[in-house]
Amino acid sequence: MKTYKMAVIPGDGTGPEVIREGLKVIQEASRKYGFTYETHTFDFGGERYLRTKEVLPDSAIPELKKFDAIYLGAIGHPDVKPGILEKGILLRLRFDLDQYINLRPVTLFDERFCPLKNKKPEDIDFVVVRENSEGLYKGLGEFQHKGSADEVAIQISHNTRRGVERCIRYAFEYARQRGKKKKLTLCGKTNVLTFAFDLWERTFYEVAKEYTDIKTEYAHVDAITMWFVKNPEWFDVIVTDNLFGDIITDLGAMIQGGMGIAAGGNINPKGVSMFEPIGGSAPKYTGKNVINPLAAICAGAMLLRQVGETQAALAIEKAVKHVVLTKIKDLAAGKMGYTTSEVGDLVIKELV
Ligand code: IPM
Ligand code: MN
Repeated sequence: MKTYKMAVIPGDGTGPEVIREGLKVIQEASRKYGFTYETHTFDFGGERYLRTKEVLPDSAIPELKKFDAIYLGAIGHPDVKPGILEKGILLRLRFDLDQYINLRPVTLFDERFCPLKNKKPEDIDFVVVRENSEGLYKGLGEFQHKGSADEVAIQISHNTRRGVERCIRYAFEYARQRGKKKKLTLCGKTNVLTFAFDLWERTFYEVAKEYTDIKTEYAHVDAITMWFVKNPEWFDVIVTDNLFGDIITDLGAMIQGGMGIAAGGNINPKGVSMFEPIGGSAPKYTGKNVINPLAAICAGAMLLRQVGETQAALAIEKAVKHVVLTKIKDLAAGKMGYTTSEVGDLVIKELV
């Protein structure tokens, strides 16, 4: 029997509540699908920072590298200035563990929860491959004459050929293995960002020559936001840079039913990957047992798929879909018709 080592970072706000449900589901899946795992919990997050003044101990990165996967709840605390925890924990982990792909599936389970008119589950089923290690997130830039009337703030998008190419290759492979429309769309802004997206576009079409079975397409990011609303059925796999990926995946989350259901993976194909619900820490719902754990449960399924437990992952996704279709009143916190822990129980009951 296979045994996996899983690092768990419940984090802030509702993170611990949703991770608890995710772990319940993974435990049931392990019984049914014949694998075992050990968990080690890390207390990184706002509370620890306020207590110790340390965002992330230096030992964290080498320690986390020893695990097969990381399961993350949420990072972000109302008493900590925005940016400190996001940069110091979430982005640091993504960068230092070289999780250069942020994989964000956009799947509509039930048309009742789609804010778009006349769109059905078969219309909203695509995946965004977001570059996760470079671009504007690199933090390059400076202030000039800070605080004066002549102040200038410069923020640079840093794109390397290697970084862009590995992301684009991953996206082509993903489109092939997904085996659906076999179409990859590059989302960029070649008409304005004539350095960054010139490199992206050239790399995209060069790599495309090795993937003649995959149709290619280019769209500007502004047009993409339009089409997510008007024609989401056009998309299969989309590849884009870090910031555009951040923005379009929030829109993607909304058309699939909201943050309650949106999961993502920060992936290092040759290292340790980290899976999370993409919704954040939701301070106002913390401790009330009302937050929707389905996004975290879906992130758990992505984690299992990444370590190789494909059957268990599929079973969890099927159970989630069934629960969404037959039980859940609304995907938003407090409106589900069930508590957080009851939703976890419902998924477990459906797991076969
Ligand atoms: C996300 C979040 C993060 C990001 C923030 C919290 C730094 O919005 O995971 O999409 O911008 O990547
Ligand atoms: Mn985001």
